[in-house]
Amino acid sequence: MNSIVSSLAGVRLMNPTILSSGILGVSAASLQRIAKSGAGAVTTKSIGPAKREGHPTPVVVGVTGGILNAVGLSCPPLEESLSELKKTLKAVKSPVIASFYGRTIEEFGDVAERVSEIKPDLLEANISCPNAENELGKPFAIDPESAEKVTQEIKDRVRIPLIMKLSPNVADIASIAASVESAGADAISAVNTVGPGMVINIETAKPVLSNRFGGMSGPAIKPIAVRCVYQIYEVVEIPIIGIGGIQNGRDAIEMMMAGANVVGIGTAVIEKDINIFSNVCNEIIQFMDEWGYTQLDELIGKSHLK
Ligand SMILES: Cc1cc2nc3c(=O)[nH]c(=O)nc-3n(C[C@H](O)[C@H](O)[C@H](O)COP(=O)(O)O)c2cc1C
Repeated sequence: MNSIVSSLAGVRLMNPTILSSGILGVSAASLQRIAKSGAGAVTTKSIGPAKREGHPTPVVVGVTGGILNAVGLSCPPLEESLSELKKTLKAVKSPVIASFYGRTIEEFGDVAERVSEIKPDLLEANISCPNAENELGKPFAIDPESAEKVTQEIKDRVRIPLIMKLSPNVADIASIAASVESAGADAISAVNTVGPGMVINIETAKPVLSNRFGGMSGPAIKPIAVRCVYQIYEVVEIPIIGIGGIQNGRDAIEMMMAGANVVGIGTAVIEKDINIFSNVCNEIIQFMDEWGYTQLDELIGKSHLK
């Protein structure tokens, strides 16, 4: 019998599927529902330093091959997010990854410290959204120096294993991955949304999203995400959560063969349903049976030329 038990930075997962940040991740009740439906771990929506309205609707629009979103990192006051996280940790039996962001390097450290007091299993720093910017007005994930500084700040201040979530919208993702690893990151999530992109309603001649531009997710971004994971795997030793366009077991296996230890699923939860996690796991097991694999380790990074 083959095994799909996984581990991520010392945390044991019953299977390699993880709910990605921002999808049904606001309340303890919805995270519990996702965990019960079969996810190996769940990630909260990114917790911010202060209440934030986000962008006015519409914030999501369907496009060929996925969706564009410009939610704008809406979140309740920090105390409210922390109290919901506390409830989540009580309700959810699988590992919980607390995603968070800050607007400055110091604020990343401040929020990390507050979140870690609640003791989630892992922390995920969202340095790849356009609202968490360095002094140049760019996301911290955009260059190796900013990514390294923010990783260092968080690692200096918390003990819980830290995942750094990277952006695909960069010239050289491998150099950024290497910089967060050297600053002490325990794992990497790759990737956040691609773009930004834009949709115009030709009847009204206006952009559809209130923010005009939004990040692209879903099956159309999978080849970009697979390439990012492949390049990251070549330069780091720490585990990788492969995220972007995963819809079924074959997609998950492809991401693992690129180098992902485990996979994150976002848009497919919205576009399909929450059984996606157990379906993906069953399809992985079936593939392993058919092809004679007994451990996930045999799949991870298998596409790299030796
Ligand atoms: C509606 C929506 C909200 C999101 N919110 C967050 C967020 O709060 N923090 C974060 O790190 N990523 C966020 N993401 C990005 C996803 O976690 C994921 O990285 C991305 O959607 C690619 O995976 P997918 O193609 O499986 O959706 C969001 C994505 C969507 C579609």
